[in-house]
Amino acid sequence: MHFSKLISRANKKYYCDPKTRIYYDFKTTSGACGKTARACAIIAAQLIKKKIPNQVNANHPPAVFRIAEFGVGEGDFAAHFLKNLKNIVGSPLFASIEYCLCDFSAPLLAKAKEKLSRLGFGHILQFCRVNLAYSKKFPYSRIGKFDYVVSNEMYDDLPAQMLCNDAEVLKEVIIGPDCKFRKFGPKAQRTPFAGKPWLPDGYFVAYNNGCIENLKIISKCLKENGRADIFDYGFSAYSQITSEPKDFWNFNVARKFGTQITTDVNFVVLSNAAKKHGFGSSLELQSEFLSKVYGKRHWCVELDDGLHYFSKKELRNKQNRKMLERQGYSHEFITGKFCEGEDYWHFGLKKK
Ligand SMILES: C[S@@+](CC[C@H](N)C(=O)[O-])C[C@H]1O[C@@H](n2cnc3c(N)ncnc32)[C@H](O)[C@@H]1O
Repeated sequence: MHFSKLISRANKKYYCDPKTRIYYDFKTTSGACGKTARACAIIAAQLIKKKIPNQVNANHPPAVFRIAEFGVGEGDFAAHFLKNLKNIVGSPLFASIEYCLCDFSAPLLAKAKEKLSRLGFGHILQFCRVNLAYSKKFPYSRIGKFDYVVSNEMYDDLPAQMLCNDAEVLKEVIIGPDCKFRKFGPKAQRTPFAGKPWLPDGYFVAYNNGCIENLKIISKCLKENGRADIFDYGFSAYSQITSEPKDFWNFNVARKFGTQITTDVNFVVLSNAAKKHGFGSSLELQSEFLSKVYGKRHWCVELDDGLHYFSKKELRNKQNRKMLERQGYSHEFITGKFCEGEDYWHFGLKKK
């Protein structure tokens, strides 16, 4: 089956099944570590203070700061984000926030609603059940525009064509339901891959068409000067692919967790698409993004319960140090002299 169809069908079935417990099947960074959500709260607070400086004293109707989250899971990112945002801006300014949870899964939206309502955020929530990989399906006029859009680890779930440069001919890669390579399909239709940089020969590479559709949605629903922060794993240059042996890369490029299917996000293609859709964009490792926002260097650490980001002080704190030693981290790593390879990215978008 063409990968785009395979990933699209599998993930719809998986996420929309009320029995699915996503955090039993895999870990996301927001489940394990609240730092990314907190960094986004710091950014949102700066934007809110700029937009609504004297909210409390204003005589005219209060301005509203509208945030959308795309791909909400069970609401873990939102919970970290909203708790931190409330602490930073204080209750009066927090009252001017609307937070719209967007996802195609009714059961996950219901779970997120329950979690966030229990935390006391029920009154600021809005909901939009929609497939975020099709720009034509998004209810723009009903939902309205946003000041800030965030998304964590949804892009790797969206439909993607799997392509391969087979001796200068771009071909579709046919992948079986077990996520193993079956055969080459026909010559692929024209894609932006036709230009430079040309794909490395024989490597399977995702062309994340669902993510490009999502960029179109963001471009249409973001207010002027609005901002979006997207977090996901993938690669920012084809040299990162060719640093892996071809067979190893091709074997692992489509992955199955439970019945959910995922692939790496091709940020080379997305950076070009962002330009085309009128964004100023930036791409950096998630650890670099966090280092900037927190004003101190952060290291990416893979622990049993998922991915964490630690500052130097946190790496050395007694409890973390013991845990890191137990999980095999070296003295060089714990003292900040060596860092682990990282493939989680922050993709920042600004509407020009
Ligand atoms: C891996 S979970 C991430 C959840 C959460 N952001 C977190 O970090 O824990 C992916 C989320 O994206 C949603 N999703 C996946 N594909 C989607 C699509 N095509 N349209 C809308 N939502 C989608 C899933 O239902 C799920 O809530």
